[in-house]
Amino acid sequence: MIPRIYIPGDSGALALGAEKVAKAIAGELAERGIEAKIVRNGSRGAYFLEPMVEVATANGRVAYGPVKPSDVKSLFDGGFLTGGHHKRWLGTPDKIPFLAKQTRLTFARCGVTDPLSLESYKKHGGLNGLTNALALTPADIVAQVTESGLRGRGGAGFPTGIKWKTVLDTAGDRKYIVCNADEGDSGTFADRMIMEGDPFVLIEGMTIAGIATGATKGFVYVRSEYPHAVAVMNKAVEVARKAGVLGASVLGSPYAFDMEIRVGAGAYVCGEETALLDSLEGKRGMVRAKPPLPAHKGLFGKPTVINNVISLASVPIIMDKGAAFYKDFGMGRSRGTIPIQIAGNVKYAGLFEAAFGMTLGEIIDDIGGGTATGRPVKAVQVGGPLGAYFPRALFDTRFDYEAFAAKDGLIGHAGIVVFDDTADMLKQARFAMEFCAIESCGKCTPCRIGSTRGVETIDRIVAGIEPEKNLALVTDLCNTMKFGSLCALGGFTPYPVMSSITHFPDDFKPAPVRVAAE
Ligand SMILES: Cc1cc2nc3c(=O)[nH]c(=O)nc-3n(C[C@H](O)[C@H](O)[C@H](O)COP(=O)(O)O)c2cc1C
Ligand code: SF4
Repeated sequence: MIPRIYIPGDSGALALGAEKVAKAIAGELAERGIEAKIVRNGSRGAYFLEPMVEVATANGRVAYGPVKPSDVKSLFDGGFLTGGHHKRWLGTPDKIPFLAKQTRLTFARCGVTDPLSLESYKKHGGLNGLTNALALTPADIVAQVTESGLRGRGGAGFPTGIKWKTVLDTAGDRKYIVCNADEGDSGTFADRMIMEGDPFVLIEGMTIAGIATGATKGFVYVRSEYPHAVAVMNKAVEVARKAGVLGASVLGSPYAFDMEIRVGAGAYVCGEETALLDSLEGKRGMVRAKPPLPAHKGLFGKPTVINNVISLASVPIIMDKGAAFYKDFGMGRSRGTIPIQIAGNVKYAGLFEAAFGMTLGEIIDDIGGGTATGRPVKAVQVGGPLGAYFPRALFDTRFDYEAFAAKDGLIGHAGIVVFDDTADMLKQARFAMEFCAIESCGKCTPCRIGSTRGVETIDRIVAGIEPEKNLALVTDLCNTMKFGSLCALGGFTPYPVMSSITHFPDDFKPAPVRVAAE
């Protein structure tokens, strides 16, 4: 059997030099006259170890990382094709602590399989969910998804089954499944990782959604900053079509479902579901007033399911192993697993899929290893640019939608950005207002005007002009934005601003007047 070498080809690993490593390995193989198969897999998500190269040996896979091109010669000299020891040797990937501690349901295949091989997908449980779904009625599929407790992973945490039921129960000559792959939140990359590392799971999830609701066409709206994900998804759709997974007769059934990949143009607000629908229709991405809900009147005015990538990619495992299996993980009303993305100033950055319920402290300190700079953690922002900044005092908060809401925070798309004690929270508060001013779609006044006034008012605090009065003004403005905005861009910007003011009051005090030494 010829040796098999796995070198991640996803954008995260590529950014860390995987392409140069792949070239060096191919060159070394040629020079030594060794025949081997190189598989460009996705990343397993332990980005601090990327580029992580794996070889398939008689005793299973052995990992090495982070590999540099300069390591390649010595890797071959050390017999890495048979798992030989080397300074980059990591052993069995599943035993690497960062990976071993995870509960991989949605990301079970990511980094393991060849992303574009349907055979490899099937060998690892792929299409079991779709096959099971085809044996059920649409109403029973919806009931399973509802029973699993799956909630939208895009940010709002809305129960997926209820959304699907609304579309199933709404009459329409045409219905759509829209996958939200805009992934605009800071520090998030779960959608990208799954699209690049296991694209068929998303295709399978969308197909199940189509069968369950009566939709025959799907669109994946991918942000323009993800060219690799777009390329992989396009290829995977073609493979799925050729294999009869997509098309006029899904896996030989009476159901039809097909899909297309569409590329956004780079606006954060186009991740908001109604602005996304406008953008998909070829219009400028503006938020629509609700009602009507997209489930009643969505894309091109037709009943539409709009779900995040991870919500849809979690459906196949639910339909494969059953609602009870999935529901068994998690806590409270947050069921199943969540891919937590640990980023920013952190030692062990990466994707960590776990059942809901870990504390923030466990995630940052035990899994993330604290800051990369070695300085104390000052704040973590959870849930993207609209998420609250939590201080260490709130590290006992459990990763659960309700527990975060109780502390005036949100989980959002489960991105965490870590800051050390050099962070200036006044600057972060200003950044939140500025971000809102830049990204506002302009439809409603509290957001369009409020964010600009917010930046100006914070600038006055920075300049030491009537700081107390201006701080009260910012608080008042935040209340207006929170309760008066049409969507969560304006409505949630107060979270990072107010959490900075509440938890880090010292950063909002005027700088001490420095008296020059005489
Ligand atoms: C300003 C703004 C940006 C958003 N960006 C995203 C995004 O990038 N990806 C996403 O899935 N949801 C995003 N959402 C949430 C979507 O509006 C919507 O709730 C989600 O696509 C529904 O899918 P889910 O139920 O599977 O989470 C955003 C919301 C707002 C207000
Ligand atoms: S809150 Fe902002 S982004 Fe949302 S509708 Fe209003 S102006 Fe547009």
